[in-house]
Amino acid sequence: MAKFSDIKGFVFDLDGVITDTSIFHSQAWHQVADQVGVKWDDHLADALKGISRMDSLNLILAHDHRENDFTLAEKTTLATQKNENYLKLVAQMTPANILPGIKPFLADLKAHGYLLSLASASKNSPLVLKHLGLEAYFTKSIDPTSLTHGKPDPEIFRRGAEILNLDPQQCIGVEDAAAGVQSINGAGETSIGIGDATVLAAADINFATTAQLTLANIKAAMA
Ligand code: BG6
Ligand code: MG
Repeated sequence: MAKFSDIKGFVFDLDGVITDTSIFHSQAWHQVADQVGVKWDDHLADALKGISRMDSLNLILAHDHRENDFTLAEKTTLATQKNENYLKLVAQMTPANILPGIKPFLADLKAHGYLLSLASASKNSPLVLKHLGLEAYFTKSIDPTSLTHGKPDPEIFRRGAEILNLDPQQCIGVEDAAAGVQSINGAGETSIGIGDATVLAAADINFATTAQLTLANIKAAMA
């Protein structure tokens, strides 16, 4: 693990880290799974975290060996339906949907001169940031449509450091998904996993909730 004193920037995931949208993504996919008759379970919900829209649909269908039952056009329709389900939930969002401790943590990072970037797989992240009133913190973010590979590939977190003009070793990546932690580790950054430490066993640092995300806790974990 890097030294805390070497850290100059933080690369954040959005869904499930900054805001509670991972529940909305799950609900929206659950509706599609019901529609096509694929059984839903918590393990599938966890496996979808951090995964791009189309890759998520393919995982859902493969969960019931249904991946070859749909044409590309049908899959595109299902993915669009999921996004419509999701956007209905996002429409209700306000700054109250920011997860505990995140707003003070972001303010503290800024006050201490750390650089921030956003490494979200979601094409909806600009809209979500707007609902949360957090756009000013994330002027640097990666357009997921510009990526060759989605999480767990390291590309997105590597780019998250690049856009800050930092080396990966100078960055901490923050994730709630196993695929995201794998991406951070592959990029050579220090990984913080938020949530179930068993699911996120590969993370350098584990916090059960976002409320534990403070510079003091991170410094202690890296000592
Ligand atoms: C990730 C979410 O942030 O974005 C995934 O964790 C989601 O659940 C992915 O599938 C893509 O999001 P969107 O909004 O482009 O469908
Ligand atoms: Mg996430």
